[in-house]
Amino acid sequence: MQQIVRFGISLDRDLLKNFDELCCRRSKPSRSEAIRDLIRQELVKKNWHASSRTSYATLTLVYDHHQSELAQKLTELQHEFHSAIISSMHIHLDENNCLEVMVLKGTNHYLHKLSTQLQAIRGVKHSELSIAASDPCLS
Ligand code: NI
Repeated sequence: MQQIVRFGISLDRDLLKNFDELCCRRSKPSRSEAIRDLIRQELVKKNWHASSRTSYATLTLVYDHHQSELAQKLTELQHEFHSAIISSMHIHLDENNCLEVMVLKGTNHYLHKLSTQLQAIRGVKHSELSIAASDPCLS
């Protein structure tokens, strides 16, 4: 049986209030359960980044296409990582903002590298990488 360790956490009142509301929305029975879930999620992410497993994923970007050099950098990176980008869709949200969704396949390490470089481009307002399936599910 695993040993349980108790420890205290200091939070400002507003952050704790927001956290409790989140726990309530997600029907978590306790703060401890919610915090355990968050820690596990982060550890999975950490391990995921370093993995050489192959995954399918989507990468969603929202950006202001008026931002200087953004479109050029975006295109250059997509060409550099062309082997991982299966498809992409571009939607003009309004006069300024674009939504781009890419479907990716590659090693987790490579997809994370692409995601990190794209989200670092100045003018990218939102970036989210979502893993759809990983091997051995793929085989
Ligand atoms: Ni656009």
